[in-house]
Amino acid sequence: MISLNSNILVTGGAGFIGSNFVLQWLTEQRTPVTVLDKLTYAGNMENLASVQKDTRYGFVCGDIVDGAMVRRLLDKQSPAAVVHLAAESHVDRSILGPAEFIRTNIVGTFQLLEAVRGYWMELPTEQRSAFRFLHVSTDEVYGSLKPTAPAFTEETPYAPNSPYSASKAASDHLVRAYYHTYGLPVLTTNCSNNYGPRQFPEKLIPLVMRNALKGLPLPVYGDGKNVRDWLYVEDHCDGIRTVLERGVPGQTYNIGGRHEVSNIEVVRQICTIMDELKPTGKPYASLISFVKDRLGHDRRYAMDISKIERELGWLPRETFASGLRKTIHWYLDNPEWVEHVTNGSYQEWINMQYIPTSPVGAVSQ
Ligand code: NAD
Ligand code: DAU
Repeated sequence: MISLNSNILVTGGAGFIGSNFVLQWLTEQRTPVTVLDKLTYAGNMENLASVQKDTRYGFVCGDIVDGAMVRRLLDKQSPAAVVHLAAESHVDRSILGPAEFIRTNIVGTFQLLEAVRGYWMELPTEQRSAFRFLHVSTDEVYGSLKPTAPAFTEETPYAPNSPYSASKAASDHLVRAYYHTYGLPVLTTNCSNNYGPRQFPEKLIPLVMRNALKGLPLPVYGDGKNVRDWLYVEDHCDGIRTVLERGVPGQTYNIGGRHEVSNIEVVRQICTIMDELKPTGKPYASLISFVKDRLGHDRRYAMDISKIERELGWLPRETFASGLRKTIHWYLDNPEWVEHVTNGSYQEWINMQYIPTSPVGAVSQ
């Protein structure tokens, strides 16, 4: 159990889930947080601007692959827990260029674990047994489900299909090994698709919203019938805090929204809400454009979350309808955030990913 006056280290805290986690932690737990983040294209200081002056918050720009730096940071900050979110996270990018995924997700997690192991071994006995390393992973490690197959449980064998999910699976195995071999008190969470404020607009929901607002085509891969299980990001962060406080070291916990929906249905729902909140006279759904499928595209993910419900009493609070509406409101209220995060290399990514097969990025901005 993390005590109320202990501080934590969060890797990847300037990204989508990481920043939501840090903001929620400072509000709910009220103890200090240090963020370690390399600030890749996906990391953004603006995500943490609201806590910039909070004396409980500290930021270190650094790479988890640099184990010596991580060890120095741990010795300086003496955290009671490390919450590990830093990763390359976008499946399409892993298909076009897997190397960075191997480097950060596998080598980075290994270096982080080594630094944490050295730090943890030198802690006084009481702090040593209370220490936790929480590794944030994904449902994608379990592979793809047939339409009527039961949802993934914590016992489902790993069968990752993309370079991204293979790299996450490798990191999960390393985390598991550090528990079994060294006794490092680790916890792993495997979560389904998140959505909510501050998600980088390379992912389906924010990409569709951004394109809709610009009158650009809304790209749906293949037949649009791939199914994902969606969870509002604040519910995920709440789940991570629950596992950190009450999870049993060495155990893994599935986290999900119990809300399976096809991609085309997600895009249609976004269009319907946008028609209501930001009407243009022409339905947004008329922008829907079916484009070439993702290579090796997993057909369906679904999470059985009965273990975390039964053992730790966690359940999502937000419905997809309420969470999606909140998310759309946030993007409509924060156009400058979208402009800032997309004014760098973003257009290069869109051109590489979409122009060869569809006119999505071809319309002038
Ligand atoms: P994100 O891409 O938005 O953020 C990743 C963060 O990690 C960024 O701030 C980036 O700068 C940082 N980072 C990347 N490489 C780094 C390195 N070498 N050293 C230090 N920092 C580095 O990702 P996200 O969507 O917030 O996902 C966070 C974690 O949750 C990831 O581990 C991901 O696999 C996992 N996850 C994501 C989802 C989802 O739907 N987004 C679902 C389940 C699990
Ligand atoms: O399941 C958890 C995973 O969810 C996380 O581990 C990943 O980090 C996160 O990126 C997410 O992976 P997905 O590949 O499921 O998310 P993405 O938003 O990229 O795509 C969601 C679905 O929408 C997927 O079936 C592909 C499809 N899609 C995506 C994009 C970007 C489209 O149809 N068109 C698009 O333009």
